[in-house]
Amino acid sequence: MQNKFVRQYQAKDRQQVREICYLTGYMGDSAEIYWKDRESFADMWCGYYIDKEPQSCFVAVVDEKVVGYSLGCLESRNAWDPGKVGMKHALKRGLIFTKGTGPAMWRTLFDVSSDLVIKRKPPMKPFIDSRWPSHLHIDILQEGRGTGFGKELINRIIDRFRQMGSPGLHLETVLENRNAVQFFKAMGFQEFGDTPELPGIRAKDGSRLHGLVMIMDLN
Ligand SMILES: CC(C)(COP(=O)(O)OP(=O)(O)OC[C@H]1O[C@@H](n2cnc3c(N)ncnc32)[C@H](O)[C@@H]1OP(=O)(O)O)[C@@H](O)C(=O)NCCC(=O)NCCS
Repeated sequence: MQNKFVRQYQAKDRQQVREICYLTGYMGDSAEIYWKDRESFADMWCGYYIDKEPQSCFVAVVDEKVVGYSLGCLESRNAWDPGKVGMKHALKRGLIFTKGTGPAMWRTLFDVSSDLVIKRKPPMKPFIDSRWPSHLHIDILQEGRGTGFGKELINRIIDRFRQMGSPGLHLETVLENRNAVQFFKAMGFQEFGDTPELPGIRAKDGSRLHGLVMIMDLN
């Protein structure tokens, strides 16, 4: 009989959470497909939450192994911009000239520039709206999906944000990540705004992927 539960994040979970972040970083598959540097990837996508706001983070555990997490930020203005975190790694460690990360970085620069010049679209920024100031990330390893962990991890975050008086939360996902979008709808999130093309990242067929913001009122 497996021992399965969700609990508050603890410092001892740090490495496992960072690893899950990487192993699920491409719409549930490994980020290795486009980004071969685990440290920078984990810093970009879970650094702020586990290092600065661990009280808003939860993990799903099976027999002492962490298999998933929900990472929250009560006030999104405080979170680190993943683009800036990635740029710091690029400058300090020369990632823009490295085989495993360079192509994605150059593609991002190309997309941002061509979107600006040809489509007149300014670079995307993290979503900030005082109606839904809190946000979250959730990722579960394949072995832990479809067993109710996602629902419990989301509910723990919602409970925390409610207790802290937040009026609402949002998340940013990829429109083409259909399973995740259906899951978030099942959890009560609604789609919000337009779905811009994302810079740098591509679908497996080479086409551009689209960003999607989903919101939930907590009042
Ligand atoms: C998306 C994810 C977090 C969902 O977690 P999960 O543990 O598989 O989901 P649960 O088993 O808790 O399902 C909760 C509810 O959502 C529903 N649901 C889950 N996936 C669904 C889908 N693809 N379509 C419709 N409903 C779905 C379930 O039926 C369940 O409904 P119920 O409450 O009526 O029983 C998980 O599959 C995952 O980590 N995927 C890969 C990473 C990812 O894409 N993360 C999101 C990035 S923004």
